Amino acid sequence: MNGVTGRMGMNQHLIRSILAIREQGGIAVAGGDPIWPEPLLVGRSESKLRALASAHGLERWTTDLDAALAEPEYEVYFDAQLTSARPPAVEAAIAAGKHVYCEKPVTPGVESALVLARAARDAGVKVGVVQDKLFLPGLVKLRRLVESGFFGRIIAARGEFGYWVYPGPDPKPQRPSWNYRREDGGGIVSDMFPHWRYVLDNVFGPVRSVCATAATHIPARVDEAGAAYDATAEDAAYAMFEIEGGAIVQMNSSWCVRVHRDELFELQVDGTHGSAVAGLRECAVQPAVTTPKSIWNPDLPDPVAHRAQWTEVPATEPPENGFKLQWEAFLRHVVLDEPFPWDFLEGARGVQLAELGEQSWRERRWVDVPELAL
Ligand SMILES: NC(=O)c1ccc[n+]([C@@H]2O[C@H](COP(=O)([O-])OP(=O)(O)OC[C@H]3O[C@@H](n4cnc5c(N)ncnc54)[C@H](O)[C@@H]3O)[C@@H](O)[C@H]2O)c1
Repeated sequence: MNGVTGRMGMNQHLIRSILAIREQGGIAVAGGDPIWPEPLLVGRSESKLRALASAHGLERWTTDLDAALAEPEYEVYFDAQLTSARPPAVEAAIAAGKHVYCEKPVTPGVESALVLARAARDAGVKVGVVQDKLFLPGLVKLRRLVESGFFGRIIAARGEFGYWVYPGPDPKPQRPSWNYRREDGGGIVSDMFPHWRYVLDNVFGPVRSVCATAATHIPARVDEAGAAYDATAEDAAYAMFEIEGGAIVQMNSSWCVRVHRDELFELQVDGTHGSAVAGLRECAVQPAVTTPKSIWNPDLPDPVAHRAQWTEVPATEPPENGFKLQWEAFLRHVVLDEPFPWDFLEGARGVQLAELGEQSWRERRWVDVPELAL
């Protein structure tokens, strides 16, 4: 597991996924021994790795990736490094015959993503990319609504993702500084559009076109060491996506917005037969038959308590961490050959949407999304 001293690697992947799987006794296999993940932590800092390993009762860590890849008993390479560091490490892991699971975006560019996808195919190793939002309870409920036909014809959707990221020094910024430096692979388009690609493709249907603009609203920030730096990457993106069949999705992604919502991500979907607002965990609906009558009259307080007219969609499963669920699916894919659709080609599609979004922003126009194949 490379990059586990980072925010995602440590919290979501090591602690809440791999260690949580060990705490539950592994991944149950019908009629067989459970799948038991045995992590070898890889990183650049001896002291951080030693501290992390000892905090969690783990014995194996190294700063030598090549030596780790040469160990035959480790079958899977996982990468949560910053994105720009990922391609050479994943390439080396594939060459060493490892199955590979990694964070999104799979690589900084679509071409390098396809190169890795082809290398994995040719080497016969199994690969996967994190698509965590698909496993969020709120989006699972939304998908269920779509599949049940609740919406009738989906007209449009409107998503708000984001929160205020402190520029520093005080309060301390809660995201890594490379996110705000283009030269280090930062920028909210390359960060968020890969998520929007798999969310839209899987919930509504294939994304066919994108129109986006973006901006660096806060031009100077303070880094982890307290030093000021120029923000060279965009910190907000405003996009429209056209879905096959004609639905329009607007999506705001911003680290410069203060939250007046129930959750840090919310997506309102309007259809001819009903509407829904899905968040990370919750999802509320208003069917056509209970839609109240609205009459425009700014001279009087609105007589309708609009939010009170919505109904919560109940959870059918106890909520589970989405990263852990996807880890379990990937490990079952590796060990039991169960299907796992979120491979490097899927990852490349996410990177493709980010690249086309940047092109749209640069050229100030709609850009179509061509089919991507190996
Ligand atoms: N799935 C999601 O929702 C989600 C959310 C945030 C980030 N991510 C992705 O996860 C990856 C890691 O993001 P993060 O927020 O954890 O970043 P982070 O800065 O907290 O961690 C980066 C990790 O990469 C390592 N690293 C290797 N080479 C490095 C270098 N040259 N400079 C700096 N760090 C280096 C660091 O040691 C650290 O372990 C990125 O690819 C990012 O796009 C995914």
